[in-house]
Amino acid sequence: MKKLAILGATGLVGQRFIQLLSGHPFFEISALAASDNSSGKKYGEAVQWHLETPPPDKISEMVVRDCRPDFEADYVLSALPSDVAGPIEAELAAAGYVVFSNASSHRLDQDVPAVVPEVNLDHLNLIHSQKTPGKIVTNPNCSTTGLVMALKPIMDKFGLEAIEVVTMQAISGAGYPGVSSLDILDNIIPYIKNEEEKIQREAKKILGERKPDRIEPASFSLEAQCNRVPVVDGHLLSVFVRTEEKVTVKEVIKAFEDFAPLKSHKLPTAPDRPVIHWPDLEAPQPRLHRNSGGGMSVSIGRLTQISEKQIRFVALVHNTIRGAAGCALLNAESYDLLVG
Ligand SMILES: NC(=O)c1ccc[n+]([C@@H]2O[C@H](COP(=O)([O-])OP(=O)(O)OC[C@H]3O[C@@H](n4cnc5c(N)ncnc54)[C@H](OP(=O)(O)O)[C@@H]3O)[C@@H](O)[C@H]2O)c1
Repeated sequence: MKKLAILGATGLVGQRFIQLLSGHPFFEISALAASDNSSGKKYGEAVQWHLETPPPDKISEMVVRDCRPDFEADYVLSALPSDVAGPIEAELAAAGYVVFSNASSHRLDQDVPAVVPEVNLDHLNLIHSQKTPGKIVTNPNCSTTGLVMALKPIMDKFGLEAIEVVTMQAISGAGYPGVSSLDILDNIIPYIKNEEEKIQREAKKILGERKPDRIEPASFSLEAQCNRVPVVDGHLLSVFVRTEEKVTVKEVIKAFEDFAPLKSHKLPTAPDRPVIHWPDLEAPQPRLHRNSGGGMSVSIGRLTQISEKQIRFVALVHNTIRGAAGCALLNAESYDLLVG
């Protein structure tokens, strides 16, 4: 078993890491770290647990520690807030750890890959450009993850010219305690700080081309508008796509169905069907479909032809699983089995 340290272990993404690692076939948790508020306490006392199933007793009894780089761990999973993650993750990489991060701090660094394994596994090798003894691998922002998984099968078959996306993002995307109930109940907030820029830049990097020491961003245009909505988990995206080649709805459904790029690798956290098309006119919905594929599949619905090179659809992504902890864990599995 390889040992994993979790940073930000008491937060919403940290809790998902603990849930997803329960019974993992080749990873075990060796350290839990968080802020000074939690450090020194037993995990069960420090955490405000939000998931349906309780943490394992063994985890609840572990003592939370600080983030200094003296863990006994093969890999580090980071769920730190972006305003503190940058220097801590750099220090860990300098000390020799391989860090898999959810934070945005290093995502757009030239030598740091932002990876969704089904979409751009080849970008993982960019870590060899990093000069530190350890390495940093990131996963994108939660909405971007859902968007690029839906776009990749379309891009491979028909090319992409222009994308417009409107997001409806769950409150858990803001962490805990996140958005105050008085702000979000009976309401929609048509702004999420930095989110639109993140989607635009990260999606083009992930769907871009790997050069020896950098990623050449994809050339399609991308406009994003982001909203916070009163849903607990699951971001819904309305996506409008203009392709380079002619496209039909039937061909796009086939492209989604055939999309299984990790099938031969048998990674434990990889879903059998990364992108699932739901023909029901009222699908997908956060409450009904966010846990598809154990929360790791992106659900597509309302696929509609606009013109011979234009389609639209909605995509649903579980933000704390596929959009965060699950994607970072899949990156760690990909690294461990294929690169490490
Ligand atoms: N939530 C999502 O859907 C989502 C999706 C994609 C990416 N992300 C990214 O994932 C990261 C974690 O998000 P989250 O939603 O889990 O946030 P969160 O619920 O606010 O949790 C933050 C965690 O970081 C710890 N922390 C805060 N300040 C710290 C410090 N100075 N030193 C060490 N630890 C510190 C907290 O510990 P204490 O409990 O001790 O304060 C807590 O464990 C963020 O970078 C976020 O942008 C989140």
